[in-house]
Amino acid sequence: MSLDIVILAAGQGTRMKSRLPKVLHPLAGKPLVLYSVQEATSVCQRSPVLVIGHGGDAVKQAVGEAARFVEQPEQLGTGHAVLQARDLLAGQGQYVIVFYADMPLLQASTLHKLYEAQQSNSGPFSMLTVVTENTRGFGRIVRDTQGDFCAIVEEVQATPEQLAIREVNPGVYCFDADWLWSRLDQLPLSPKGEYYLTDLGAIAVGEKATIKAIPMDDPDEALGINTRVHLAEAETMLRHRVNEQLMLSGVTIIDPAATYIEPTVQVGQDSIILPNTHLRGSTVIGQECTIGPNTVIEDSTIGDRCVVTASFLESATMEDDVDMGPFGHLRKGAYLESHVHMGNFGEIKNSRLRRGVKMGHFSYLGDADVGEESNIGAGTITCNYDGRNKHKTIVGQHVFIGSDTMLVAPVTLGDEARTGAGSVVTHDVPPGTLVYGVPAHLPNSASDKKQEG
Ligand code: UD1
Ligand code: MG
Repeated sequence: MSLDIVILAAGQGTRMKSRLPKVLHPLAGKPLVLYSVQEATSVCQRSPVLVIGHGGDAVKQAVGEAARFVEQPEQLGTGHAVLQARDLLAGQGQYVIVFYADMPLLQASTLHKLYEAQQSNSGPFSMLTVVTENTRGFGRIVRDTQGDFCAIVEEVQATPEQLAIREVNPGVYCFDADWLWSRLDQLPLSPKGEYYLTDLGAIAVGEKATIKAIPMDDPDEALGINTRVHLAEAETMLRHRVNEQLMLSGVTIIDPAATYIEPTVQVGQDSIILPNTHLRGSTVIGQECTIGPNTVIEDSTIGDRCVVTASFLESATMEDDVDMGPFGHLRKGAYLESHVHMGNFGEIKNSRLRRGVKMGHFSYLGDADVGEESNIGAGTITCNYDGRNKHKTIVGQHVFIGSDTMLVAPVTLGDEARTGAGSVVTHDVPPGTLVYGVPAHLPNSASDKKQEG
């Protein structure tokens, strides 16, 4: 493989007005820089080289093993930034793609096209361009009367005629490696005191070389993030892209503008996503589900034919035919087997509700295991925390927990046990028995029997 990729991420991102380095600002849940690293990785077998500087340690930490790093100690411009990779890459790949880490919408397929274009170009580099009314401060592509490439002129240095040009530089180039490494030293100092990578254009033209400047099919891919306004624009475009792909694959999204699905999420056919639903991280939703409105699901797995209404789920699992909400909260380790029904105002953490369990109203289950077909009465609470440690509650099959029961853990209720309304259960309950009262006890006196009746 004779391609290397260099991604520039050393700039401060002054226009973001932030303490966080620009490339670490989150877009659809993950730092900007990871988008470019991911696209680069799918085009090139060798991991991309990331030029870091401002906030370098934090950027390194966010990217981890996915890239190789070189440091640009002082930010002296995009040409100077690429120069920092020369020691590592000179004599390696035959081609070098360079692009900027602030372009999260750029697609691998576009990088690939550029790479192919340069492979058939006798000149030293090919680059992408964008034809757009929204020039956003980008450098202008100056062409001669034949339409051949002449130069890239930065907006601040452009003449009024050049400013009127609608073809601009998104900042994605594929170079002949030897040419690149030998010409970087020749870059002139710009009036701003920087070495611009874009001045390689004029150097190549001076050598009478052919530059391929190829307009991009989808100008949206060229969106470079310089301000938080651009960040929000990118978020909207990315959301649109993700939602459109899902709809084309058979998912109904009632209002795509108000549905927030991260690119990592999977949704099965014939599921319906209602407005103001946020699906995040490693979430997988099965087929024929109805999710939302007003629902947040993070890193969770949902089976087929589930209904989740106005609820919040984090790191939870749901098998098929489960329904929950409105206003339910599944926390880490909640596992609902098939046909579980969880009504309003329930909270479940680190607990398994086995097949067919019903928990209709106002309950909290933590560190519990509830057997098949058991019924959790309204207001049931597992008292799982004694101030120091968490303890387990085990409930057998076909158990009937009366309303407002407190299960003081550790405690076990056998199969078909029952608790009366308002019981505080502090001891294990044998199978098939009823307990009630505070603390809960077996019916053992005449008056108790009368009460039970
Ligand atoms: C650059 C281009 C401009 C193009 C625009 C597209 C140059 C001189 N100009 O301008 O033609 O239209 O991008 O978005 O290249 N960086 C470093 N080290 C530095 C300076 C920058 O690593 O010393 C990195 C930044 O982190 C960023 C990228 O290079 O990821 C581009 O820098 P930025 O300051 O955003 O350049 P623009 O002014 O947008
Ligand atoms: Mg920029």
